[in-house]
Amino acid sequence: MPGIKRLRAPIVYQGGKFKEIHHIFEHEPSDIGTFVDVFGGGGVVALNFSARGVSTHYNDLFSPLVLMYQTLQDQAATEALQKRLDSITPSLQEHAAICCGEKGVLERLFYITRCTMGVDPHYTKTPTPRFRERTTELKTSILPPSVKLVDYVPHVSKWRITQKDFRDVLAEYKDDADAFLYCDPPYVSKTTKQYTTAFTTADLLQIYEFMKDPNTKCRVMLNVDYTGWTREVFADLLRTAYPVTYGVKGTANIYQKYHLILTNY
Ligand SMILES: C[S@@+](CC[C@H](N)C(=O)[O-])C[C@H]1O[C@@H](n2cnc3c(N)ncnc32)[C@H](O)[C@@H]1O
Repeated sequence: MPGIKRLRAPIVYQGGKFKEIHHIFEHEPSDIGTFVDVFGGGGVVALNFSARGVSTHYNDLFSPLVLMYQTLQDQAATEALQKRLDSITPSLQEHAAICCGEKGVLERLFYITRCTMGVDPHYTKTPTPRFRERTTELKTSILPPSVKLVDYVPHVSKWRITQKDFRDVLAEYKDDADAFLYCDPPYVSKTTKQYTTAFTTADLLQIYEFMKDPNTKCRVMLNVDYTGWTREVFADLLRTAYPVTYGVKGTANIYQKYHLILTNY
């Protein structure tokens, strides 16, 4: 949708769909009563639906994300969180304490996603790539200067937020023809190393069966990686395939792959 300003999530998140929102909007069903982000993650899809005035339900199994958005529902709690994050001056000495969660669950979430996105400090010898060479000075603060947490409160305050397994969310909306369930699960090809939960082809097949079930009344969009397996198995639900380009700062087109949008409507 050209001309629409997209909101960014407060954290950079693995698998975040900021750059793909327009594909989701383009293929959404009509007359959405409730938007349900079944695998909410960084929350960028939920944010952009609720910004349009759509009633929104955010769900994710990972408790720090749920805590983050529950905090962003409340003005005073959000201001306090912003203060706590601003008061931390990261250093090599503080690094371990923050990463172990000693400073708080949300401090850890913001710090790790900000400084070490894609590099889990528990599994590498290099603490973080973003310290100035030969110093303990972090090049960035925990919150990017552009992120003002209070700006999220008006968007998030009306959300329903849950921390459920996706199967429970699907079951809840099965009979609800006004609901639109957006499913962006972890990639199965990488399974156990991603996030804190394992996601398997069997899980993905459960979503497929739910979508194919003639008794399912809600509209479901499944966003998955294009692989030989997904393209073959989900062929009858295929709506579109689009290219996604990954890069690192200053170097575009490191590699390109495709994502699929599958729908039951
Ligand atoms: C690909 S990410 C979603 C990214 C999100 N669309 C965004 O734009 O940031 C997948 C999410 O699914 C969550 N997840 C993994 N297994 C789950 C399950 N069984 N039920 C619900 N959520 C789950 C993970 O915690 C992760 O945040």
